[in-house]
Amino acid sequence: MRLGIISALAEEQQGLIEALQSPSRHVHGMREYTTGKLWEIDAVCVLSRIGKVAAAMTATILVEKFGVTHIVVTGVAGSGDKSVRVGDVVVADTLLQHDVDASPLFPRFEIPLTGLSSFATDLALTERLAIAAAPVTRVHRGLIASGDQFIGKLTQIQALKAALPDLLAVEMEGAAVAQVCFELGIPFAVIRTISDNANDDAAVDFMHFIKTVASRYAFDIIQNFCRA
Ligand code: ADE
Repeated sequence: MRLGIISALAEEQQGLIEALQSPSRHVHGMREYTTGKLWEIDAVCVLSRIGKVAAAMTATILVEKFGVTHIVVTGVAGSGDKSVRVGDVVVADTLLQHDVDASPLFPRFEIPLTGLSSFATDLALTERLAIAAAPVTRVHRGLIASGDQFIGKLTQIQALKAALPDLLAVEMEGAAVAQVCFELGIPFAVIRTISDNANDDAAVDFMHFIKTVASRYAFDIIQNFCRA
């Protein structure tokens, strides 16, 4: 396995870079890819930058230029369900792009020419991530939706939840990585720590959270994942 680790935040990636043995930095396309050994696993760490296009490019370059065979995405997300609280993690079973709507040509959410509206994560990687996260915090499994929007209004998250009753979390990258990995045949998994409730308080909660808890959680989870 050559594992690509896509982090959303510099705070999250920092500890991983410090833990890499024989690190080697490569700058390409406005991103820094660091290769090395992470607890015996051949790894490539990179920051995705923000949004679906940025994440799709990052995943593609990881596969096509750095030869990764598996991808894990970490980061934070807004809650999409009452049962999912700030500080919990959500491990995706499926991901969907909530801002895709080519109706009436295709059903809302369907990715044209794939026949799919959601992409399933790799079961083995997903279970390993969920097990790695269990000692760290409360873990949920289910649907994560991504879009090129920070969801920061109660009316926005309510409308999304009405359209997607199974929704557990919202973020801005995971489903784009999912589509790239589906199209390239790369097993992948996504884990997100909940930083806010995607409501009117979301922006303030988000800023506070990423500076405090998110980075430590991601580091501990990836460490448990690699050592398993
Ligand atoms: N990432 C963390 N919180 C988010 C939110 N409320 N909307 C989109 N992405 C997020």
